[in-house]
Amino acid sequence: MSAFPEVRPRRLRRTAALRQLIGQPVPSLGKMIWPVFIVGGENQKIEIHSMLGQFRMSADELCRAVAPLATQGLGGLMLFGVLDEKLKDVAGSAAFAADGLVQRTVKKLKAEFPQLPVFTDVCLCGYTNHGHCGPLKNGTVDNDAALPILGKIALSHAAAGADGVAPSAMMDGQVAAIRQALEVNGFHDTILMSYSTKFASALYGPFREAAESSPQCGDRKAYQLPPDQLQQALRESQIDEAEGADILMVKPATFYLDVISKVRKQSQLPLAAYNVSGEYAMLHALAKSGGGDLTALARENLIAIQRAGADILITYWANQYDQIFK
Ligand code: PBG
Ligand code: ZN
Repeated sequence: MSAFPEVRPRRLRRTAALRQLIGQPVPSLGKMIWPVFIVGGENQKIEIHSMLGQFRMSADELCRAVAPLATQGLGGLMLFGVLDEKLKDVAGSAAFAADGLVQRTVKKLKAEFPQLPVFTDVCLCGYTNHGHCGPLKNGTVDNDAALPILGKIALSHAAAGADGVAPSAMMDGQVAAIRQALEVNGFHDTILMSYSTKFASALYGPFREAAESSPQCGDRKAYQLPPDQLQQALRESQIDEAEGADILMVKPATFYLDVISKVRKQSQLPLAAYNVSGEYAMLHALAKSGGGDLTALARENLIAIQRAGADILITYWANQYDQIFK
């Protein structure tokens, strides 16, 4: 075997053109899903303090923001409804209203951008007054009581025209319950993208501020995954695959690149990774302190998630794609 001085790996990195020739394509906008926060009313566009460059938008403003991205080939949207506190109740019933915020917005988006895939988050934490992802019984989340409600929410989103529903509540059996609700009601083509491996992470803080979905008491550790439990994490995705998920997901992404690559190896399903709010805010904080260039940080982060094996990147950077990958 030859060695230095014949072997000089730096030959392959000498110029930008060579580096591009030898490297992988950067993730394209078509691989990205932009998560968005929807509020009621019109002409509403309110920046989220802890997530610069992200806004709570009314449906009309959302359409305005989406138009140029749709033209450039955005991969899809993930919708989160931000509900008025006074519409929340113990059961989260506003989540499955046929003319609810998300349902109306889906209809409008599909009318204006019929080709653009629209996914909806299916959970209860933004709709219950206690902020947990399912109904409470004796102070804990009642897994089995959550299932029919999650089924109804998914069905209402599918009926509004969503291309896919994405359950994020981490209830056991939720994928099977939703798949069955969809099948029984004739929604054979609705994609079920499961938040299959979702950790109880400290990185969801800015999102909870944006979506006003913090648990009012306790935390989500009894349903979301412990960060140190790799086997359980892999098993959760296997179970969701067996229950009928079409797309799996690892969330968060950057602290869990090992999990992304392992789920990628154990399944043939498409795999999404959710580059969450805290990951996004972290890069903004570093850039703001003068410690790094924001677009270079975002670029490196997205490349890392793709390299780990994610097919789909759910990321707040999607609306800034042009600046990051120019
Ligand atoms: C709700 C939900 C959360 C996120 C997506 N869906 C928050 C949570 O589980 O507390 C987090 C997304 C982000 O941080 O960007 N189930
Ligand atoms: Zn939730």
